[in-house]
Amino acid sequence: MTITGRDLITIDYYKPEELEWLFNLAWLLKNEPDLRKRQDMLDGFTLAMVFFNPSLRTRTSLDIGMYELGGHTITLNIGAGVWDLEVEEGIPMLGDKVEHIKDAAKVLGRYSDAIGIRSFPKMNSWAEDKKDLAIISFQKYSDVPIINLETALYHPCQALADAYTIREKFGAIKNRKVLLTWTTHPKALPMAVPNSFSLMSSKLGMDLTICRPDGWDLDDEIMARVRRNAKAAGSTVTITNDFEGAFEGQEVVYAKSWGSKNYYGRTPEELMARQPYHNWTVGKEQMARTANGKFMHCLPVRRNVVATDEVLDSESSIIYDQAENRLHTQKAVLLGMLGSPEIHAKLAERFHKVTHGPEGLGVSAK
Ligand code: CP
Repeated sequence: MTITGRDLITIDYYKPEELEWLFNLAWLLKNEPDLRKRQDMLDGFTLAMVFFNPSLRTRTSLDIGMYELGGHTITLNIGAGVWDLEVEEGIPMLGDKVEHIKDAAKVLGRYSDAIGIRSFPKMNSWAEDKKDLAIISFQKYSDVPIINLETALYHPCQALADAYTIREKFGAIKNRKVLLTWTTHPKALPMAVPNSFSLMSSKLGMDLTICRPDGWDLDDEIMARVRRNAKAAGSTVTITNDFEGAFEGQEVVYAKSWGSKNYYGRTPEELMARQPYHNWTVGKEQMARTANGKFMHCLPVRRNVVATDEVLDSESSIIYDQAENRLHTQKAVLLGMLGSPEIHAKLAERFHKVTHGPEGLGVSAK
């Protein structure tokens, strides 16, 4: 098994067994002390990270992860010490943007072994944002693997860490009851995290409930893929607007706010429309209805808006494990994309030995 040289734009790019292989790799990198430390497995490799928007976790976990594998990162903050990039094709560049993304992508592809892109939606037009032009341009014009660090549509690195964390906490992941719930928020936020969580959980056969007010549905095409995933995996997808009832019997609660397609680009109107849902904050009353459920959020989180301090700081909260697992799962992706077949074979052998060997003590990543 390998994902050598492949892009990671969305988790749809990978089959369930390839995701499983990445989780096993991540498990080794996290749990085997000699593999956790700097191994020079990616000695001489460079990851270029292009940030159009801010980040804490994505930036630091990839930087540290690449270092721990023996590689190097270069971080470019667009508009801050780096030329602002034009993404529209075929237009006369008479405005403020002095470099075309096509040229930047080709040049960075000559210098580095992989390129990561963070580019949030502009939140003016869903049809426009949905094109995900920045990352698609890098994919089109660079010859090296492209990693999505969160764009308008997807946040696959987050989804990998989320699924790994659920697997780590529960063991078997199939038919786990997971609730993705919309929450109140002072801003209309992108849909990348809920999209990717829905795609990932359905692909891995979790029973997914999405709770959102009417009018806050995720994109129809994404939902069609989520339903297809669930059908193939033998799991269920339930949509509800019952914020209290949705928590009943859930094993995982994933809280996240997102903007409405119905009010896209009309933030003041959307904020007015949200008024009836201002109390959609996850508190201990909601968590008490779950089956001793774990609480998840991708972070950053607005405390006492999205969820109460009581929930975020409770025993049920696994938000910091989730954040930590960004490091291990992304290291697995980097190693999978860039590592040599010899390293992949050695790690597969090691995984087998740890999980099945005489000294394996029954340890299992599952
Ligand atoms: N969850 C996440 O992607 O965090 P950052 O925005 O801080 O990178």
